Amino acid sequence: MKSEGVQTGHTPVLLEETLNGLSIKPDGRYIDATFGRGGHSRALLARLSSMGQLQALDRDPSAVEAGKALAAEDRRFAIHHANFAELDLVVPAQGWDGILFDFGVSSPQLDEPERGFSFLRDGPLDMRMDPAHGVSAGQWLEQVDEAVLANALFDFGEEKHARRLARALKARVHEKPFTRTAELAEFIAGLVPKTGAQHPATRSFQAIRIAVNDELGAIDRGLLAAEKCLKPGGRLAAISFHSLEDRRVKQFVQTRSRPPVVSRRLPPPDASHLTLIDRDKFLPSAAEIAANPRARSAVLRIAERRL
Ligand SMILES: C[S@@+](CC[C@H](N)C(=O)[O-])C[C@H]1O[C@@H](n2cnc3c(N)ncnc32)[C@H](O)[C@@H]1O
Repeated sequence: MKSEGVQTGHTPVLLEETLNGLSIKPDGRYIDATFGRGGHSRALLARLSSMGQLQALDRDPSAVEAGKALAAEDRRFAIHHANFAELDLVVPAQGWDGILFDFGVSSPQLDEPERGFSFLRDGPLDMRMDPAHGVSAGQWLEQVDEAVLANALFDFGEEKHARRLARALKARVHEKPFTRTAELAEFIAGLVPKTGAQHPATRSFQAIRIAVNDELGAIDRGLLAAEKCLKPGGRLAAISFHSLEDRRVKQFVQTRSRPPVVSRRLPPPDASHLTLIDRDKFLPSAAEIAANPRARSAVLRIAERRL
């Protein structure tokens, strides 16, 4: 695996904790729902016997290309170009021993300016993980309603100046749409005061990226699909990079861990239940953060399907 900052590399975060949390069985069947550059997948394959199986998904075509190279050299592995929201439609919908989600964007997505995620390196204003689906960030800014934009900036970016910024962005887009990331970053920096070391456009770029890719909707659907696909005793591992993602994982596991309501007047409850095992969350060590600063906000949660 290449180190942090290398153009084509992605350093997997919380690697040991994730593999230990999944409690890998050498002959087991596993899913990596977010292949990226395969850091977690490769380490997982190293713990499988020749009978084990790993299938991976990614919605990003460049990640899928990297996955195809791995599939060509390891017959236990297969990759699908798909959104994990549709996990249960892409892989056999039951009988899996473990499923991993490593949410958010990969280092290559952030580092390659032509993907349009970076406010530091100029590129076309795109931000789509799958450039063949949906609308680019530039088009989204043109189409979105001012109130929806303000809510997205506030909810997904915790941008305090959301309302004022949304008004200014819509006025500017009306005059002349944004086409480049640097243009948008500069415009935001002219309106939002700088706090600490963070670039003033950091929060807005995160918010727009989350909206353009419907990242939170995909997480909700992906977790439900994963629960369906796990066998009893199978494990779910989910790595989040901000509180919006982690809160969804935590609430999902808590809700699904409660005993079902049994009533003579209601249909019989769904038999699947997760329960949190071990510690409910794992954080990266100081050594991991020093070696890979992108790990600093990572949170891993492990759950187990009970029935
Ligand atoms: C943080 S990276 C994963 C890195 C990977 N664990 C590794 O070690 O290389 C997240 C990956 O998930 C993919 N992704 C994000 N949302 C997705 C979704 N809804 N469906 C499928 N892939 C998704 C992104 O395209 C990206 O490649």
